[in-house]
Amino acid sequence: MENLVEEVTANMSRLNELLQQAGNIGRNEDGSITRLGFSEKYFQALEFLKGRMQELGMQVETDPVGNLHGVLQGSDPEAKSIVIGSHMDTVMQGGVYDGMLGVTGALEVAARLKDEGRTLRHPLEIWGFNMEESSILGGTFGSRCVTGMLDPDIPGYAEKLAKFGCSPEKAKAAKRDISKYECYLEYHIEQGDKLDHTGLDVGVVSGIVSIIDYKVTAKGMSNHAGTTMMANRKDALVGMAKLIVAAEERAKELNDTLVFTVGKISVSPGQENVIPGQVVANFEMRHMDKAVTDQFYADIQALAKEIPNCEFEFVNTSAKYSTPCDPRLIKLIDEVCTEKGISHIIMPSGAGHDANSMAHEGVPIGMIFVPSVKGISHQGDEYTKPEHIDMGADVLYHTVLKLDENGF
Ligand code: HGY
Ligand code: MN
Ligand code: MN
Repeated sequence: MENLVEEVTANMSRLNELLQQAGNIGRNEDGSITRLGFSEKYFQALEFLKGRMQELGMQVETDPVGNLHGVLQGSDPEAKSIVIGSHMDTVMQGGVYDGMLGVTGALEVAARLKDEGRTLRHPLEIWGFNMEESSILGGTFGSRCVTGMLDPDIPGYAEKLAKFGCSPEKAKAAKRDISKYECYLEYHIEQGDKLDHTGLDVGVVSGIVSIIDYKVTAKGMSNHAGTTMMANRKDALVGMAKLIVAAEERAKELNDTLVFTVGKISVSPGQENVIPGQVVANFEMRHMDKAVTDQFYADIQALAKEIPNCEFEFVNTSAKYSTPCDPRLIKLIDEVCTEKGISHIIMPSGAGHDANSMAHEGVPIGMIFVPSVKGISHQGDEYTKPEHIDMGADVLYHTVLKLDENGF
């Protein structure tokens, strides 16, 4: 795999150096990064950034579910907080930039305030969230605990939390009073190819897509792989494969921005000489419009009924509906880019983010994207040019200054 990851070099900007140092924690031999939530590498990155936050004079703590939280007090005790955050975990064999760009970019804001001897009127709160990536905890776990969007008392969830040394009590203890949040900003790589393809430098995010997940079970009948003739089989894997292919075709027909992924599948009994009796797969669909994902789900169920020798069961396991970014923040970020002569476009996010957890609970959100080279993400060749890293952070910084001066 061609690895575009920059080595940390002395002539990099402060932010690029911090990003490479933090983002390379959990590096695999192939150059990709594995820093899963609650893992030893995750907490190594947390401790590294905690130290950097303390050096910046922030009040810093690790919360009950492994989120990192830092505060720079403002001059006005009545002012609500300007909050900046993103996640510190990665997918398996992921990249340097996804998540960590937003946390280190937030620290760069604090560092620039210190360089310039500025004290904001508003408190500045920085979050490094745990377990944003998909897992048995459902994704955006740390931020959903902070906002109270997560209900840890749902049946069976305590057992899942226990696998990470966590508990419903800790999840509830992590809840913050977000009524004291003025807004939440997240700086992130685009993870798609729109900016790289069009040659634009910044994306001003208009909203975050829905992410809907279903556990789909295909039930056939296990049997002997040698003595069971093809006409007499109830092969659950063949049935599931037919449904996946049919659903993929239907997604393309239904809507050109609807996306459908089966990223996880298990076959049982899972032995070479036994016809699969049961297959379980995760069907994930994303779109800005709930009507489209609702229609797609109905279509998949109809397609399933047409597949012979197999029964299908569908269980909705997660539904994070799309959230718009606050129009005032979109306008503000757009203005900053225009004033700086930065080429930019207002665009939706096809990726999910912790900002969704904030917006769901009423906090106004704004997001800033920078290009992902070749649109690659969630793998080791994920790359964003150092000059874009600094450019996006500069837009973030001036957005914070404008927010602080003019409120909104
Ligand atoms: O899956 C996502 O969209 C995000 O990267 N967690
Ligand atoms: Mn991310
Ligand atoms: Mn991600």
